[in-house]
Amino acid sequence: MSNTVKVAVTGAGGQIGYSLVFRIASGELFGPDTKVVLSLLEIPQAVKALEGLAMELQDCAFETLAGIEINSDAQAGFDGVNWAILVGAKPRGPGMERKDLISENGPIFTGQGKALQRGAADMRCVVVGNPCNTNALIAAKNAGDVPFNRFSAMTMLDENRARYQLAAKAGVDISQVRNMTIWGNHSATQYPDFFNATIGGKKATDVITDHEWLQGEFITTVQKRGAAIISARGKSSAASAANAALDHVKNFTRPTEDGNWFSAAVPSDGSYGVEEGLIFSFPLRTKEDGSYEIVQGLAHNDFAQEKLAKTQEELKQEREVVKDLL
Ligand code: NAI
Repeated sequence: MSNTVKVAVTGAGGQIGYSLVFRIASGELFGPDTKVVLSLLEIPQAVKALEGLAMELQDCAFETLAGIEINSDAQAGFDGVNWAILVGAKPRGPGMERKDLISENGPIFTGQGKALQRGAADMRCVVVGNPCNTNALIAAKNAGDVPFNRFSAMTMLDENRARYQLAAKAGVDISQVRNMTIWGNHSATQYPDFFNATIGGKKATDVITDHEWLQGEFITTVQKRGAAIISARGKSSAASAANAALDHVKNFTRPTEDGNWFSAAVPSDGSYGVEEGLIFSFPLRTKEDGSYEIVQGLAHNDFAQEKLAKTQEELKQEREVVKDLL
């Protein structure tokens, strides 16, 4: 007998949505024995586009797709959902930093947070729409009794970008790069932690001896990759962001392989000196029982401490901007 999982995607009519929903419906995310009901959400003006999207989904004849719902009302769209993937927001345009988006996008997440109380008892939510850490905080704080640790924000795209850069520099297959952590905010202050990363089971800093590159160009390339893609493509990253959203959900729904971890922004429990309650990207492991834990005991030298402090400070500032919404 097959299970059914209901997945809501907000902003489904946008460019990430177009790369995301087909892969969810195809069975890639929850496997061939789990049926998926897709709940697609958009602003009223974009509902017509969702009708076209639904037709395309039907025309894929996915055997794992059990139903499609279309809504512009979050209360209806989140009814009974097991996973809510909150993509809908205004994307960053040329020359804009994420902080510019806070005031514009924050209010979306108060209403959606309230509506998420209608989710299933095991509902989990990942925020992709920027500024995703702070938006996740807003949604969580408006979600009543839904446990705080059901909310996360996506830094998986940053992790994937960082792993690619390290693999390319070391001239190895990307599967060799493990233990990559993105710490902090999904923004230009994030800290991609090469000190604790491994390549082929060795410390990345032993394999890549160009430490000037690691401390400089590597970090800035990962931090600014989103902006580089906008300037090259004229649009923000979409297929790679959708791919990362799938990786994020997979990471939370499957036990993490031995010796490895993954990055996602989750409510801080005070680990590594990060103020409790900030939505901060940490190294995480998903356990056999489906819960997750923050990996403990990683060392941070002065260089790393400074980066952690900077990204934490930025998150506190973002929280200050939206304090009326929390
Ligand atoms: P897009 O503009 O193509 O699509 C966004 C969609 O959201 C639009 O169709 C819009 O109508 C819809 N929308 C806006 N407000 C909504 C609401 N209240 N309810 C439901 N839908 C709503 O943008 P794109 O490229 O798909 O990006 C979406 C978001 O993802 C942006 O905020 C972008 O910055 C963010 N992003 C995050 C990444 C990450 O790593 N966390 C990576 C790449 C993008």
